[in-house]
Amino acid sequence: MYHKRIALNNMKNSAKCRFKYSLELSFKIEKIKKLKKATSLGGVIFNSPLILAPMSQITSAPFRLLMEDLGSGGSISELTSSNGIFYNSARTKDMLNVDPREECVGIQLFGEKSHNLMTAALLAQEKGAKFIDINMGCPVKKVVSKGSGSALIRKPLELYDFLSPIKKALIIPLSIKIRLGHSEKEITASEVVKVANDIGIEFVTIHGRTTVQLYQGKANWELIENIAKNSFIPIIGNGDLNTKESIADRMKITNCKALMIGRGACKNPFIFLEGLAEINNMTDKFTFSGSDMLEVIDAFSYYSDELVSEEKIKIIQLKKFIVGYTSSFPYASELRNKIFALKKIDEIKSIAKNYFSSLPVLNTK
Ligand SMILES: Cc1cc2nc3c(=O)[nH]c(=O)nc-3n(C[C@H](O)[C@H](O)[C@H](O)COP(=O)(O)O)c2cc1C
Repeated sequence: MYHKRIALNNMKNSAKCRFKYSLELSFKIEKIKKLKKATSLGGVIFNSPLILAPMSQITSAPFRLLMEDLGSGGSISELTSSNGIFYNSARTKDMLNVDPREECVGIQLFGEKSHNLMTAALLAQEKGAKFIDINMGCPVKKVVSKGSGSALIRKPLELYDFLSPIKKALIIPLSIKIRLGHSEKEITASEVVKVANDIGIEFVTIHGRTTVQLYQGKANWELIENIAKNSFIPIIGNGDLNTKESIADRMKITNCKALMIGRGACKNPFIFLEGLAEINNMTDKFTFSGSDMLEVIDAFSYYSDELVSEEKIKIIQLKKFIVGYTSSFPYASELRNKIFALKKIDEIKSIAKNYFSSLPVLNTK
């Protein structure tokens, strides 16, 4: 039954194509993407060891497809409420949608009730997720106060009963994403990793901050590396890998099986390609131009048109997308104000065109 539905789903969407980039940009993309090496984390096979992080209101299917075009080895969806699924919210159910063109995507769920997580995980499995990831790192008060997100890492031993039923119910692999602990004085990540290993979870992503840190301070890579060194199951390391140099430097020395990139991908859409080129000491030094960026904006719009039904959401997402990519360039705040005042997609794209056409080269190495 499960396989039948997946096959039908794939057939329905098989006619959809990927965005067609110009010959010039395709040449650069394909040349660098040849450097990708498949990376197995338990039963999950990523196309490379550089994975797109889950980010709320960002990593929906259009952004994930775009990042896959631009070199990500796979991705995890934004966090999705298992309670919302359990109580039949249509909008929450839509968040489980996976596009059949996506090569390796996990659906991330959060919740404080194991049974609701299991119900939601089974539906995500049916909708085509390649694996399920349980969010155990969200520090937001609304989430933590109910006992979900990073509240779950405070009592590692309780995770046996919490996670085992979900693991047992699924055909596809299960992973978890955690923080180092609640606070500097309450570091629990290695105990959580041990439980995950005992239960047969496929891999653990560790964001190198504590809950109380939120997004402040620096990710503690020393701790991530120590845990990864002593862990039987694969660890994905995450935190502050915002440049090609930081990605390549980490890759050279890491005990992690893969690295996860979040905010870096919202500031630079080419970060996965640049990271791959840098890791492999690629001799051809490609640069990306303002006109490449315009193609990326068109590609994002193309995927949004196909996959997002509400015009209002499309416009909000496009604005956020463009503004993120201007933050490190001149006159970003003027552009931001202009873009946020606009109401039509064509107008937004036209302003972006004027802006990016005036930026010939986006990186310099
Ligand atoms: C806007 C935003 C939304 C996020 N949403 C999620 C989420 O839905 N699930 C999750 O596990 N982590 C979420 N995170 C955390 C990231 O996945 C990642 O762990 C964190 O940003 C550190 O990685 P980075 O330094 O590469 O950004 C979010 C982070 C940001 C900035």
